[in-house]
Amino acid sequence: MPGPEVEAIKARLNIVELIGRYVALKPSGQRFKGRCPFHPDDTPSFLVSPDKGLWHCFGCHAGGDAIGFLMKIERLSFPEALARLAGELGIELRPEGGEGRARLLQINQEAAQYFARELRQPSGKKARDYLLGRGLGAEVWEKYMLGYAPEGWDGLVRALGRAGLDRLRELGLVIAGEKGYYDRFRDRVMFTICDDQGRPVAFAGRSFAGDPKYVNVPNTPLFTKGTLLYGLDRARDPIRRTGRAVLVEGYTDVISFQIAGIGETVGSMGTALTDAQARLLARHTDRVVIAYDRDAAGEASALRGLVILRGAGLQVEVAVLPPDEDPDSLVRSQGAEAAQAVLAAALPFHRFFVEALARRHDVGAVEGKEQALVEAKSFWPEIRSVPLQHELARELAGLLSLREEEVWRYLQGNAQPSRPQLEAVRVGPEEHFLHFLLEGKLPDRVLEDLDLVGFRPEYRPVVEKWVEMWQRGRRPTAEELAGALPPDQASALTRLALLDVPFSDTAQAVEDAVTRFLYLPRLSRRMEGVRKRLAQAEEAGDRTEVERLNSELQALCQERIRLLRRR
Ligand code: UTP
Ligand code: MN
Repeated sequence: MPGPEVEAIKARLNIVELIGRYVALKPSGQRFKGRCPFHPDDTPSFLVSPDKGLWHCFGCHAGGDAIGFLMKIERLSFPEALARLAGELGIELRPEGGEGRARLLQINQEAAQYFARELRQPSGKKARDYLLGRGLGAEVWEKYMLGYAPEGWDGLVRALGRAGLDRLRELGLVIAGEKGYYDRFRDRVMFTICDDQGRPVAFAGRSFAGDPKYVNVPNTPLFTKGTLLYGLDRARDPIRRTGRAVLVEGYTDVISFQIAGIGETVGSMGTALTDAQARLLARHTDRVVIAYDRDAAGEASALRGLVILRGAGLQVEVAVLPPDEDPDSLVRSQGAEAAQAVLAAALPFHRFFVEALARRHDVGAVEGKEQALVEAKSFWPEIRSVPLQHELARELAGLLSLREEEVWRYLQGNAQPSRPQLEAVRVGPEEHFLHFLLEGKLPDRVLEDLDLVGFRPEYRPVVEKWVEMWQRGRRPTAEELAGALPPDQASALTRLALLDVPFSDTAQAVEDAVTRFLYLPRLSRRMEGVRKRLAQAEEAGDRTEVERLNSELQALCQERIRLLRRR
């Protein structure tokens, strides 16, 4: 995505000046230091490197480039941050995605108008009655771009056909069949899904009865499942005002909550919340109250969703709805005040987490305790905040009548590898190796020989992106790389890039990192393999093979000694 304008903006931007507007920065060597604006920071752990164009906090492990900083601190989307900087610097931006995208948006707009018109036709009476029956009147139809897709196979095709059937198919509005194109949505109440700027990017249609309840458009050039939040365009200001977002599942839940005065409500459109949605939310707020319905099947996936939200750095609370109610039915049966009260009584994440475990397992019995521990452990690697981990361990210990240290030890036991933000500051051969990779200092022969599997999972996206850009012809700088990675991956990168590597002899240090990270472990793995085969050959009494393997092993030992000596 980084087009020429982004490059132009970055080239003219002074990262120290930009960040200096928010953080008091003091020079420290070639860098600047300050107190991190993203967490309570009493030892300045926030570093800015003007020559690299990057920042990183060694306390909370946030990091990125200048645009990423502006996005995070002002809670802007990438295009918004870009537009703001372009404005300041007097750089002109071309419209995002160009003409093709604008045309597709316009067609969706026309489709929304078509559905709205059909809702008001005589044949739309059924849909009008349905909506009115759910307490949704004409002003709501207007505000939320609700509509009706009539019965029949080609209503939309006929109404919008001149836009081009290929385009309609691209937008998921029509389907190509054997006898030509036909409408995807037939005899359904239509919901228009807008992006956070209020542009219609997708549709969903609800049936009056029968399955599936909702039909959605597939992924299209305007819409990727799991990247949007329904209602966010209207919720943005209320979220800012109230300092929180309320997360619900369904379209009607969003509409009912918003019109009941809980304007800060957004919908995940189904159960499984994605990382992308969590990041989107985190751009707008740091506090989320989840109000999902309480069916048991949903609870496990809700728990997963909670963990994802926590992973995006959000403070999470869970509203416990009365049984058999969803947010929409709750507002309609008990009113807005009852809904507000349910939200106000939301449980903090750790309490809900533990109570959910208690509901699903018989924690009075040994077996139930074990099951609860196993389930807690399955979430453990994703809970990245150390204080939160302690909080959970404490609650869990109380629930299971165990000692906190025992629970802690069990959950930490043979710790899963992917826990990027847990380790304080880990600096080993791998980090040195990656630091030099980002500095562009690794020789080609090493790069050609890289194997992603050898890296910790949190570093893999960084390496993968770097290699991808390198294969397209150029060694990217850390800053270019940061611009090409999503924010949560960029922070692994900035940490590595801003690592203090106190070497006097860089060439030697590079050699050393390559040997220790790449060649020695590889050699060890090969030796391990030979040893295994040797044992088998001995078992089988195959003397020639034993001899052969012995000399191979010896050669590998020599090689190892040679490598170690060179360091
Ligand atoms: P629900 O089944 O809870 O429906 O699905 P709902 O939102 O309460 O709908 P109403 O009130 O009966 O009209 C929650 C959400 O899951 C997605 C939709 O986004 C829905 O709003 N969903 C559900 C689908 O995409 N397809 C389906 O078939 C069902
Ligand atoms: Mn509902």
